[in-house]
Amino acid sequence: MARHFTQQKLVIASHNPGKVREIVELLAPFGADVISAGDLDLPEPEETGLTFVANAELKAQASMEGSGLAALADDSGLCVNALGGDPGLYSARWAGPSKDFSIAIAAVHEKLQSFDDKSAYFICVLALAWPDGHLETFEGRINGQIVEPARGLNGFGYDPIFIPDGYDITFGEFDPDVKTAIAHRAIAFNQLVKACFE
Ligand code: IMP
Repeated sequence: MARHFTQQKLVIASHNPGKVREIVELLAPFGADVISAGDLDLPEPEETGLTFVANAELKAQASMEGSGLAALADDSGLCVNALGGDPGLYSARWAGPSKDFSIAIAAVHEKLQSFDDKSAYFICVLALAWPDGHLETFEGRINGQIVEPARGLNGFGYDPIFIPDGYDITFGEFDPDVKTAIAHRAIAFNQLVKACFE
């Protein structure tokens, strides 16, 4: 059984304003008093883990240790089955230092060219670290197919090349609110909320 969250304050272990905003909105109904790692000037740890769980945990732990408060972190990415799970942990890095996702998308298409299997999934792992060192992790996945060419101008990252199972448009073509509500991050959040906040 997961531990219920009764701490006064929660640090969002992210320097990404988009992610912080999403998490704040999600937790608002539960009255959690939330502050970001950026607001507290906490350093961003290197993502040296070899799994999504390890990276989410190390980010949550670093913010917890730096602040003495409970901390919540996420790690996410796109895993393409025919590519052995790539770009996976390196999803952000495939876009290069300029964070240009047309480069990352071109690389996925190029590597996938010779494969019939275009299946892929987005994954999000959330880690919640308590000040006494207790940790809980939650995982959300959404399966789909990689398509070429990229379609749609909404969303971010790999959204324009991913069609979730059961739909015929890419996340780049989805209404952004609908995508946020059904995607991997929402699936992981729903589990976290059920286990620790309800
Ligand atoms: P991190 O979780 O900040 O380490 O980076 C995750 C990376 O995975 C992002 O930079 C995106 O490239 C990719 N990614 C994660 N979630 C999504 C999504 O919902 N849509 C598109 N790309 C995503």
